Amino acid sequence: MAAFKVAVIGGDGIGPEVTAEALKVVAAAGVTLDTTNYELGAAHYVATGEVLRDEVLEELRGYDAIVLGAIGPPIGSTEVPSGVLERGLLLRLRFELDLYINLRPFNSSPGAIAPGADFVVVRENTEGPYVGEGGVLRRNTPHEVATQGSVNTRFGVERCARFAFALAEARPARHLTLVHKTNVLTFSGDLWSRVVDEVKGEFPEVAVDYNHVDAACIYFATDAARYDVVVTDNLFGDILTDLGGAVTGGIGLAASANLNPARTGPSLFEPVHGAAHDIVGTGAANPLAAIRSAAMMLEHLGEAVAAAKVTAAVLEVQRELATSGTKLETTAIGDAVAGRL
Ligand code: IPM
Ligand code: MN
Repeated sequence: MAAFKVAVIGGDGIGPEVTAEALKVVAAAGVTLDTTNYELGAAHYVATGEVLRDEVLEELRGYDAIVLGAIGPPIGSTEVPSGVLERGLLLRLRFELDLYINLRPFNSSPGAIAPGADFVVVRENTEGPYVGEGGVLRRNTPHEVATQGSVNTRFGVERCARFAFALAEARPARHLTLVHKTNVLTFSGDLWSRVVDEVKGEFPEVAVDYNHVDAACIYFATDAARYDVVVTDNLFGDILTDLGGAVTGGIGLAASANLNPARTGPSLFEPVHGAAHDIVGTGAANPLAAIRSAAMMLEHLGEAVAAAKVTAAVLEVQRELATSGTKLETTAIGDAVAGRL
């Protein structure tokens, strides 16, 4: 079997530490990767002034997949203006590579705030308020105006809804919940509702429910076991998945896949958590989110058996650590997962 060509962006803070564990586990699962490291992120920006050169972006298009650790400067640092790396690197990759699905699975650890959760959030990843439409007029005057648009296209919503339905259809519970705020965001909410209603016709076996996003926040905390597949827009999905991580065992477990399901280029796999500079080098970083993200990469690359093994091993280790209260160092957690394969 030929090795998959994978670009590795360890990034900042604990990014390289958790990424190393993810790659270690992939190797232990018997899948060979031909990796190339890319120095990108806050440290690279501070050192060179570069966020993501066009040539680097073009090169990245040639890989089978991209693994990313974390991007961002230490909290309180003034060397990187807010938004420069988010817009210029992470969102640019999502938009340019058309990673239109951000898939984020959640499984409760024993003792988590939300017990018994086993659900996946399908977050639209290329539209909504993330497109950066808007601007500021008369800045710093009493008549200052700031607008921030939200773009929702039928094309974008439909392909996201169809992905979510197909995923729900393939899961035992066959249940899909649309989360939005249709009572206030009447224009975009109406488009989302109508499109979900239309696509539903193609998936007669999937039961469909709807929650307003504020109510969904309550259910995430009090009754997360009700969810199977949740589909939502970019910003609601961003917020809900941090909440999902927090209530199911911690953000150190929250994995994500930024997918281009049309496969016109590589998809990108990253933990939901950030760079956590305060714990760099201490061994306190939990690599399980990064490892589970790598399992999602294996699945996307067609290595379904290895993917299932790694995911099962991650969930076992997650369960054991939560049950026993044991604290293992970053590399020991990677070893524990690898040892189960
Ligand atoms: C995430 C992050 C990003 C987002 C930031 C870093 C731009 O919070 O992946 O959830 O808002 O999507
Ligand atoms: Mn986020």
